[in-house]
Amino acid sequence: MSDGATHKLWGGRFAGGPSAILDAVNRSITVDFRLWPFDIQLSRAWARGLVHGRILTDDEGARMDAGLAAVADDFVAGAQPLPSDEDVHTMVDRLLHTHIGELASKLHTGRSRNDQVATGARLWTMDAIEQLDLGIRGVQSVLLKHAELHQHDLLPAYTHLQRAQPVTLAHWLLSHFWPLSRDRQRLADAMRTSSVLPLGSGAIAGTAFPIPRELLQQELGFAALSPNSIDAVGDRDFVADTLYALTMTATHLSRLAEDLILFGTSEFGFVQFGDAFSTGSSMMPQKRNPDALELTRGSAARVFSDLTSLVMALKGLPSGYNKDLQDDKRALFDAVDVMALVLPAVAGAVDELTFRTDRMRNAVTSVMMATDLADYLVLRGVTFRESHAAVGALVRQAEEQRLELHELPLSAFTAAHAMFGDDTLDALSAQASVDRRSVPGGTAVTAVRAQLDAAEASLKA
Ligand code: ARG
Repeated sequence: MSDGATHKLWGGRFAGGPSAILDAVNRSITVDFRLWPFDIQLSRAWARGLVHGRILTDDEGARMDAGLAAVADDFVAGAQPLPSDEDVHTMVDRLLHTHIGELASKLHTGRSRNDQVATGARLWTMDAIEQLDLGIRGVQSVLLKHAELHQHDLLPAYTHLQRAQPVTLAHWLLSHFWPLSRDRQRLADAMRTSSVLPLGSGAIAGTAFPIPRELLQQELGFAALSPNSIDAVGDRDFVADTLYALTMTATHLSRLAEDLILFGTSEFGFVQFGDAFSTGSSMMPQKRNPDALELTRGSAARVFSDLTSLVMALKGLPSGYNKDLQDDKRALFDAVDVMALVLPAVAGAVDELTFRTDRMRNAVTSVMMATDLADYLVLRGVTFRESHAAVGALVRQAEEQRLELHELPLSAFTAAHAMFGDDTLDALSAQASVDRRSVPGGTAVTAVRAQLDAAEASLKA
């Protein structure tokens, strides 16, 4: 049983061996290999629990611990799975036998791979969430840095992808900062659902040995103990929570990427992409393509498919552990891996953008202040309905005469509504339009300053 090439964690009740086809379909080590540091960590805690429960003597516990440390060294030195290693738990167990012999066979007392893999995957997820949070903050810092520098530059804001109203560039940049803050919140929530320890649940009914679970919890740094062993071995909510948080992060990065891809077209010309995150064309010598941003946009589809494949696997499962759950790690690792690639790519691509503030300012045309013009009449006692109609008529006239709104003669304004005075054209100032919007969350420079301070504070917290 403990001979390297045939090492197995089960098999006693079978007369014949498994089919090679079953082995192939069952084998998960190509995916779960990366759990090894956590499998060893939780195994060391379990071994200490076995000492507390007097299943192992102090001396056996010490040898077990040293053996598991030696297994970790094997992995660090590049140990690779054998064809017979079904999963990472089997491989750790096999290597442990090479170091401490038959004593290794005591480690699995009172535990199952069901509570083991759930624990290892949770430890892995908690670690990943910390890295992901760093990655998101990396993108946020770059957005914030640019926003600090562009508090006074104006560009059009769009609704329906049509020029709508002027905003400051800082305001637009921060509009991509806050969704990422919400993603960090969602990841923090996923951290909470991950930080519940299943170890001690055994296969389904709880371990029968007096292992102090609180000790395991403390040692492994979990916030809580799972309250029900049946639930604990089949609960993958923490994976779903993480995948949902990442789906939203990927969605937000995709929307940022889409804005920038659009802004980088010759037609907009609002941003220029740098060299480090652009690619050329094999045929067209002039091309500079925003591949990093396009791949970011594409990756959202992949993360979403990881979430759907997980929840589809969960929805019909009977309670407890079922082998379908083995695929949770493929989905989880795939989504985390792609985000680990994409987050620094977005940070890098945004960092090296050049903002063509001249082109942005030129795109702010006077018709975008039509609302301000209507407000001008409102401030003189006209109802908004009436002023909206009067300004609408002026916009139509300008369009017919192929003029910008401010190019119409003052007589056209006074003809459209008697309340238009000599200062009418002041209402078409883009700066005044921005300055008027000083409500919290508005685009006025003062409001954006407060936003910048809040954004900065959120990165430090
Ligand atoms: N490789 C398995 C997984 O990832 C480990 C748990 C196996 N449990 C079992 N009862 N066969 O889910």
